Amino acid sequence: MALIAVKDLRKRFNLEAGFFAPFGRFVYAVNGVSFTIAENESYGLVGESGCGKTTTARLLVRMYESDGGKILYRDDTDVGALKVRELALYREKVKYVFQDPARSLNPRMSVYKVLSSGMRRSSRWKGHKEAREAAAAILSEVGLSASDLERRPAEFSGGQRQRISIARGLLMEPELLICDEVVSALDVSIQGQILKLLLDLRSRHRLSFLFIAHDLKVASYFCDRIGVMYRGEIMEEAPAAELHKKALHPYTKLLFSSVPGLSGSGGPPQKPLPALDGEVESSLAEEPGCAFAGRCPLAAELCRGARPETVEAAPGHLVRCFKV
Ligand SMILES: Nc1ncnc2c1ncn2[C@@H]1O[C@H](COP(=O)(O)OP(=O)(O)O)[C@@H](O)[C@H]1O
Ligand code: SF4
Ligand SMILES: [Mg+2]
Repeated sequence: MALIAVKDLRKRFNLEAGFFAPFGRFVYAVNGVSFTIAENESYGLVGESGCGKTTTARLLVRMYESDGGKILYRDDTDVGALKVRELALYREKVKYVFQDPARSLNPRMSVYKVLSSGMRRSSRWKGHKEAREAAAAILSEVGLSASDLERRPAEFSGGQRQRISIARGLLMEPELLICDEVVSALDVSIQGQILKLLLDLRSRHRLSFLFIAHDLKVASYFCDRIGVMYRGEIMEEAPAAELHKKALHPYTKLLFSSVPGLSGSGGPPQKPLPALDGEVESSLAEEPGCAFAGRCPLAAELCRGARPETVEAAPGHLVRCFKV
């Protein structure tokens, strides 16, 4: 049974809000995304900045309301239909750990306050004594100590702040942790420590993860399966090891080719694709063709006129490309 199943999820944003803004100009941030995450599984969403990863994650906890599609939790809970109270309970099970702890941790609060503030509004609140004990226990699990409860987030290093952020996510004993670029801002050595901590927590608590990263190498290390996203669509999905050995989609190959020490299929080196500085240009209209056609060296007439369907190239290996 899938812990969470996402089917044909869609979200578009109004490009220019305002009275005189041209009507009906949209950014198609998430454009028909489907995936599942099993119990105790880590599913990775990978892609360059601007391709819709954070929007997908926020849709999962209904920080944004979707424009289409369905999110099912444990087969029978339709997340889109949850009322306020049920939604609050669901959000105790599915926790979002933010990308940037420097901004998401209030610097004026003590670590105890940061950790307990979510709990106070939850079904688990039993008073300060219990909360303090739980917070102290979770802090030591993430490699900090009970004496850190009275300190302020600003007194900690970037890596330690990320540990506080993870502790806050864990305090409600969630089943699914959404980690949105949680190691992206850290030095490589600190990244390794945080990833090891997450692996450790995963096995100890039987957690599932939606692990978001722009770095395919980081995701390959941490995840069981990976979905590669481009301009709001999942272009390829496969077990992490298979993706590493046998990437099929031109975009996945581009991502691998830009990661030192990792290559795609192991075949002859491909002509490098033009890499991108900054954000992926997002889809502004419901374009008829393949979302990657503008950057793809294999793009043909067909690719601009019609959208490739997702096909299963091998068991569990999905790809959306006419040329595969
Ligand atoms: N609140 C928003 N309002 C308008 N556009 C947004 C909003 N959030 C994201 N977008 C746009 O949607 C696209 C996907 O963004 P995002 O989900 O943040 O991508 P990623 O996390 O992969 O970098 C981008 O073009 C971004 O500019
Ligand atoms: S469908 Fe065409 S444009 Fe799209 S990735 Fe495949 S070859 Fe490239
Ligand atoms: Mg993001």
